[in-house]
Amino acid sequence: MHHSTGAVLWILALPGLPGYPPSASLLTADHRSAFFFWGLHELVGANQMEPGDTQHSLYMFHPTLPGVLLELANVSANIVAFQAALLEPGRHAACILLTGPASPDAPGLVSMAKHKVQDLILSSRVVHLTEGGADSDQDIRDRLSRLRYRSEA
Ligand SMILES: *[C@@H]1O[C@H](CO)[C@@H](O)[C@H](O)[C@H]1NC(C)=O
Repeated sequence: MHHSTGAVLWILALPGLPGYPPSASLLTADHRSAFFFWGLHELVGANQMEPGDTQHSLYMFHPTLPGVLLELANVSANIVAFQAALLEPGRHAACILLTGPASPDAPGLVSMAKHKVQDLILSSRVVHLTEGGADSDQDIRDRLSRLRYRSEA
């Protein structure tokens, strides 16, 4: 980050930025990038949960709509690995998520899930970072779901 030369687009108070899983970005066909990153929610009031259980939420940002953030998914399982990847055929992208036990001594289910970014966007929650903007949440989802992704080359 070059704060001396860059412009801060927005600052948002998220419940927590866990630092893990790491964020990811993908180039989009318009020569910009989509950013994927995680925020952390303490689950309070969910009485069957152990205190301190947390829920990770996956967010997406694209600079064509700098005033919004999409909350793509909530994940309560322990995240072992996360990646955003290009699906070549339609220049679509996918988020690949591996969840499983937090420690090797605690056996549990391991699950690998691949979600098309377009589908995640269409079921996302729109988080407004700035006031104003006449677009409805559905307009915003529709617009960002039409993004196409490209490889680095
Ligand atoms: C994530 O959870 C919050 C709080 O329970 C909810 O408001 C939000 O709609 C959920 N987001 C998604 C993408 O399902």
